[in-house]
Amino acid sequence: MTVHFIGAGPGAPDLLTLRGRDLIAASPVCLYAGSLIPPAVLGHCPADARIVNTAPMDLDAIIGEISAAHAAGQDVARLHSGDLSVWSAMGEQVRRLRALGIPFTVTPGVPAFAAAAAALEAELTLPALAQSVVLTRTPGRASTMPPAESLANFAATGATLAIHLSVHNLAQVVADLSPLYGADCPVAVVWRASWPDQRIVRATLDTIAEAVAGSMERTALILVGRVLEAQDFAESSLYAKGYDRRFRPQHADSRYAGSAE
Ligand SMILES: C[S@@+](CC[C@H](N)C(=O)[O-])C[C@H]1O[C@@H](n2cnc3c(N)ncnc32)[C@H](O)[C@@H]1O
Repeated sequence: MTVHFIGAGPGAPDLLTLRGRDLIAASPVCLYAGSLIPPAVLGHCPADARIVNTAPMDLDAIIGEISAAHAAGQDVARLHSGDLSVWSAMGEQVRRLRALGIPFTVTPGVPAFAAAAAALEAELTLPALAQSVVLTRTPGRASTMPPAESLANFAATGATLAIHLSVHNLAQVVADLSPLYGADCPVAVVWRASWPDQRIVRATLDTIAEAVAGSMERTALILVGRVLEAQDFAESSLYAKGYDRRFRPQHADSRYAGSAE
């Protein structure tokens, strides 16, 4: 018996990895974080699977479900939205499973920030404008932030920001970022990226709060950065004609001549 932690992606049932889909289909028990995973994703479960929404459960109850499946020799598909590496609560479950000697695997998923960028048809790193993306959040009722991880500190770098779990805090996000990015800095809020009712609001730091006007709750991502509207960015050297590189040596005495595989 194995517990398969699976990144279930942003919501669309076809934005799972093939491995994740196949593990779900082969597991007689499915525990899913129902606050963020839409029912359509559960269509990958076997018809007779035991399917449990863990949104109303505490950690002890979740581990109780897993332990019962372990005793019955049944594999468990444990689904969290997006990818498991950020804000999935996988860490605390894995710690318990290790202590109990219950085997597990981890399968990555499409994170919300990538689905939101796709919805915007945007590259979040553009030459000279931004070469880093910060995945962050603002403090919540149940989660404080380490003091150095303030929006202002991240904004000091000028990186593209992908701000999770914060659409209810939009006014504060604007107040924190405007002095550093400028009131005219582009912002996009993507609600339910990849869901059938996905919505996108594009504005600037100056106008985003009014544009959203409380119309998007919970499952929304705030993206901030000059890359979102930039049209006059430089082309990358990588594909520039004449750029000497391993996979495209430009002359016979190139340091890369003969080294391409
Ligand atoms: C608990 S975190 C989970 C993040 C997830 N593990 C990931 O890899 O993206 C939940 C937050 O992710 C963002 N989120 C998750 N799914 C989303 C979606 N389909 N569209 C927009 N934002 C989403 C929202 O900011 C939401 O508040």
